[in-house]
Amino acid sequence: MIRLPGLIDPHVHLREPGATYKEDFDSGTAAALAGGFTAVLAMPNTKPPLTNGPSLAQAQAAAQDKARCDYGIYLGAGADNVASAAECALQVCGLKMYLDQTFGPLRLDELATLRDHVAHWPVDRPLAVHAEGRNLAAILFLAALHERPLHVCHVSRKAEITLIRAAKEKGIKVTCEVTPHHLFLTEDDLPQLGAGRGEVRPRLATAADRDALWANLEVIDCFATDHAPHTLAEKDGENPPPGFPGLETALGLLLTAVHEGRMTLDDLLIRTHTNPRHIFGLPDQPETFVEVDPDALWEVQAAQMYTRCGWTPFEGMRLRGRVRRVTLRDRLAYADDQVLAPPGYGVDLAPFAQNEIY
Ligand code: DOR
Ligand code: ZN
Ligand code: ZN
Repeated sequence: MIRLPGLIDPHVHLREPGATYKEDFDSGTAAALAGGFTAVLAMPNTKPPLTNGPSLAQAQAAAQDKARCDYGIYLGAGADNVASAAECALQVCGLKMYLDQTFGPLRLDELATLRDHVAHWPVDRPLAVHAEGRNLAAILFLAALHERPLHVCHVSRKAEITLIRAAKEKGIKVTCEVTPHHLFLTEDDLPQLGAGRGEVRPRLATAADRDALWANLEVIDCFATDHAPHTLAEKDGENPPPGFPGLETALGLLLTAVHEGRMTLDDLLIRTHTNPRHIFGLPDQPETFVEVDPDALWEVQAAQMYTRCGWTPFEGMRLRGRVRRVTLRDRLAYADDQVLAPPGYGVDLAPFAQNEIY
């Protein structure tokens, strides 16, 4: 058995408020604990989207009642909250800007709106973006112009990771995350997954893109699941929404890569604990650790999972490395496949967050 620090996932969708039949703070944080995560940062593309005080309060109240592990909540950047967003800055783990079309209505279209958000959001609070392709170049330029840190979500393509490498080499303050699904799946897996289940944004990319992510591991600051649950009926129906669940498979996939010698355990821990904590200024979680059997071989089965969505793109995969016990703030939170931390045990970390200007 090996002991790891509590993992931090800086990118999950817990669907509350508005779509709790897909997931809620209870089921989503149960899935997190089962996956070895003791803190998750929840995205604002809910119903309603979290763009102001009242909608944020709704999500905070649900989380306070139901979360089983620690969490933070993002504010969403909209066309009409440039001036008011900063009022919420100390209550959230960061501002999320969507430059590309994905699930929900939060996409920003106007260059002027992008610029104004980049200019107004406090420089010492995290700014995270969904920005693919040319949109990545645009937002990198704006962040550089305003000399403020930028965190790029779910980088998936060779041209993007090499652009981020070049930006870092120029001294631009950019960090980035990559998902397990973009490290372990490609468009070649689409026929087997099925068209609807394979929908995800960013899309599954080419084998060359995947290989470029692995080749640029040193440029990747975090592994983030982008846990984005939609039900099987939705994924297999008309107009399948994009998104994969990922909380309960991430650590197994990454430990399997460690087992195969594709990265070290240190590489894994820097990207699932040290860097996310640093980038988001999260407080230490005392007496918090994950006990893992690194040699245990297990088969991925959605039927065994805590996520409410009922499926996984990794069904049937055999992985090495399994979470046995999770201790969160001195309390046994998960053991023997059972989630033990009750709803309401989770703490909102955002008010305790502190960012250095770096
Ligand atoms: O595939 C995705 N699903 N990508 C996103 O950016 C959003 C997410 C969701 O909320 O379902
Ligand atoms: Zn996204
Ligand atoms: Zn996302």
